[in-house]
Amino acid sequence: MASDRSAVPNDLSAFWMPFTANRQFKKAPRMLVGAEGMYYKTADGRDVLDGTAGLWCCNAGHAKPRITEAVRAQVAELDYAPAFQMGHPKAFELASALRDMAPAPFEHVFFTNSGSESVETALKIAIAYQRARGQGTRTRLIGRERGYHGVNFGGISVGGIVNNRRFFGSLLTGVDHMPHTHLPEKNAFSRGQPEHGAYLADELENIIALHGAETIAAVIVEPMAGSTGVLMPPKGYLEKLRAITRKHGIILIFDEVITGFGRLGSSFAAEHFNVMPDLITTAKGLTNGVIPMGAVLATGEIHDVFMQGPEHLIELFHGYTYSGNPVASAAGLATLETYREEGLFENAAALAPYWENALHSLKGLPHITDIRNMGLIGAIELEPIEGEPTKRAFTAFLDAYEKGLMIRTTGDIIALSPPLMINKAQIDELFGKLADVLKGLV
Ligand SMILES: Cc1ncc(COP(=O)(O)O)c(C=O)c1O
Repeated sequence: MASDRSAVPNDLSAFWMPFTANRQFKKAPRMLVGAEGMYYKTADGRDVLDGTAGLWCCNAGHAKPRITEAVRAQVAELDYAPAFQMGHPKAFELASALRDMAPAPFEHVFFTNSGSESVETALKIAIAYQRARGQGTRTRLIGRERGYHGVNFGGISVGGIVNNRRFFGSLLTGVDHMPHTHLPEKNAFSRGQPEHGAYLADELENIIALHGAETIAAVIVEPMAGSTGVLMPPKGYLEKLRAITRKHGIILIFDEVITGFGRLGSSFAAEHFNVMPDLITTAKGLTNGVIPMGAVLATGEIHDVFMQGPEHLIELFHGYTYSGNPVASAAGLATLETYREEGLFENAAALAPYWENALHSLKGLPHITDIRNMGLIGAIELEPIEGEPTKRAFTAFLDAYEKGLMIRTTGDIIALSPPLMINKAQIDELFGKLADVLKGLV
């Protein structure tokens, strides 16, 4: 039954919505007006279980008192401080807290305002690092098919999602792509890391042979590819990438905008897989999505190469007006404290097997061609309707919303990533509702 849509603004035309079917949305708006814990509140007064942590970002759940209070207090105390050539205490405190939470090699933090900016920052640091260490011919960047690295020009150039690239011209030059790791014919219905596909990392050797290692600055991958529809790294794949990049003096960047902050049950995927890149990009869960913020974590080795020359000179010509913004920093500190205090990463790790079983119990429902999971992430791939790709999953998304469940879809893949505070009863509720949706799909 269509919901009562009366409690929405009269005029929806001005707001050009991002990554949204604007005309469809504005005919039947899905308007959220509140959120607490695991649930959103809709304009028509319904509770909707958050199966996606907002957009993979509200890892602690909604309206967490510590974060709310920290933001409120910070706005009153110091609303803004110039980010260049000036400092304020909370940005330094948050950088230290991140360093303490990250695996050992990551000693320094560069603040941004989003995942996209973290990606641009990491790519620029990688190229500038190579130059600073006397390897200025290393300017090429290598990404991967189906990679998502945000929407700015560097990110879409190394990214591999066709619709995010094809409308926007020639992009960056000097970029190449490794093959994606999705092998449904061999790995469908794998639990956790799939068995097959480590050999796909060898393609990097071919790309290096083609261009010459001395032209390549960095390789960027999502350790687990989220926005493209949840693609797990095959067993041994990331280890191979690390070995090959190290052998050839190439920086390895893990884009952990989704996998950071407990999503896989560890602080970062680097820790989860025990594979250490040289740079880690983050955003989203850093502030629980409350205030926009991102960060790039760098090893001491990378950072220290920049710290040369006369001390009064700027070492890296890069930064944003809002890098380390005081309110965002306060939100970040309170978020990290919330994760720790509530044991949320531990909860994610402890619930992962229950989550996995509940997710895979959907196998056999109509149109499902694959189910994948890791930590508190799940994906259900549906057979597309012939001639109408994406429509089946989008129908599921709309129906789930009507049934009180928020899911996310990319193509014909349903992605799930609830706040890490979820409990077993809520996991049952989520998959109960989703099963109803899937049973009704034509
Ligand atoms: C891996 C990855 N990188 C970058 C981004 C871009 O982040 P933002 O939307 O904050 O710019 C995302 C967003 O989903 C992401 O998943």
